[in-house]
Amino acid sequence: MSSWFFLSVIIISIFSILLSFYVHKPDFPPLEIEPDDYWKLEDPEKDDDTIYSYSIDVEDSRVSKFKKQLKSEKLLPTLYDEKYDNYMKELKQVLLGFDWKQHQHFLNTFKQYRTEIEGLKIHFLRVSTPFKDKKTRVVPLLIIHGFPGSFWDFFKIIPILTNPSRHGFDFGVDEPIQFDVIVPSLPGFLFSDKPTKQGFDGIATARILGKLMHRLDLNDYFVHGTEGYGGDVATLLASLFPTRIAGLHVSNPFVGPTFSTFTFAKYAWKAMKQDDKKEGAEEVELYTDMADYFKQDKFTYPTNAKAFDAAFVNSPTGTAQYIESRWKQLSTFSANTNLNEIFTLDEIATEIYLYWFTETLPTALTILDNSYNYETVWLSSQARIPTAVSYTKQTPWRCSKDILEDRYLNLTRVTDLPKGGLFHHLQDGHKIAEDIFAFVELQLLQKQN
Ligand SMILES: *[C@@H]1O[C@H](CO)[C@@H](O)[C@H](O)[C@H]1NC(C)=O
Repeated sequence: MSSWFFLSVIIISIFSILLSFYVHKPDFPPLEIEPDDYWKLEDPEKDDDTIYSYSIDVEDSRVSKFKKQLKSEKLLPTLYDEKYDNYMKELKQVLLGFDWKQHQHFLNTFKQYRTEIEGLKIHFLRVSTPFKDKKTRVVPLLIIHGFPGSFWDFFKIIPILTNPSRHGFDFGVDEPIQFDVIVPSLPGFLFSDKPTKQGFDGIATARILGKLMHRLDLNDYFVHGTEGYGGDVATLLASLFPTRIAGLHVSNPFVGPTFSTFTFAKYAWKAMKQDDKKEGAEEVELYTDMADYFKQDKFTYPTNAKAFDAAFVNSPTGTAQYIESRWKQLSTFSANTNLNEIFTLDEIATEIYLYWFTETLPTALTILDNSYNYETVWLSSQARIPTAVSYTKQTPWRCSKDILEDRYLNLTRVTDLPKGGLFHHLQDGHKIAEDIFAFVELQLLQKQN
């Protein structure tokens, strides 16, 4: 076995060395996409471009119906993991005892709006605080959530980003900086309308977010994208509107071997360098995991889509267990760590309630499926604007700087954050806020000089 193994190692090494002579650093032409579309089934009408203020208001009867249904449903025990079973029982109790009215009141303390773009009403938070120091520079920052996440994931960092001095931060010494934060619900997610026409994907999402910022008259802003899908949408946005975006900050991006032949050769080369096990081999291993991960989605969701959708809109337990399992998969490597050791159960319950009330798990999954399984061009988008990347320890993938550089052509920094997984904003809000500020401050300084 071993001689075959070494032979194939040698052949692949030679092949990849040759390949690396022939393939060049990817430099894709800017994506050409349709400038406009309309996502309702009816005949297109001109968008109503008024920005309406919005607040979340779920009828009491829906809350009690959720609880009544949840109570009557079974939790299937795992038979082997008592710790997990007990934790799920606890989560169920938290959901049953959840004071939605109080949470809704809290959510509504963030100013929210809706405005129509391409036929869809897009929901977003916009938060900024008055400042005392006249010199304070207010910088617009668009924050893009992923799946299964929401604007809720940022409730801890929004106050820091919009009012750093109050939270003990002192950013921008000559000129204090604070953010004017815009956090949309991605189209098809949460309180944004669901596209009813087929084919809605990450490209349409990025274009709509670009139009949203334009409608708010913000044409020089920073973008922070996170939670996998949010990072990809942010990257695409930066490649579509490079002149309007001053800088891109992405948490936990993934650049796979299929991104370009050059990237593939790098992966292959790293895997073959036996003495350099640390980075390369790990990266490929991670990639294999990721491939499995996407395959799972790819095959389980579309073939069983109707069954999933039915469970998601009819069963509170189905929704709760799906969101719970995704958060767990993306938040810890440790199989016997449960979410109650990482987040408060209230935080998880809020996410579950939000997806349940808006019935958007099926739409969100369809959009992800359209984005990752059919349309690959959007993943070849490259960001040319200054970019910063941060990685958290418990995220199931990680790319080294030279791989990231294939996609982020002006990568200014890569930071390791000590704590958290994909949903790290709820775990360690200070660190990520600090990282965003540090990047933005540097960009603004460079611009001045
Ligand atoms: C990266 O962006 C900065 C700031 O805009 C610019 O000064 C620099 O030349 C860019 N570097 C590359 C390699 O494009």
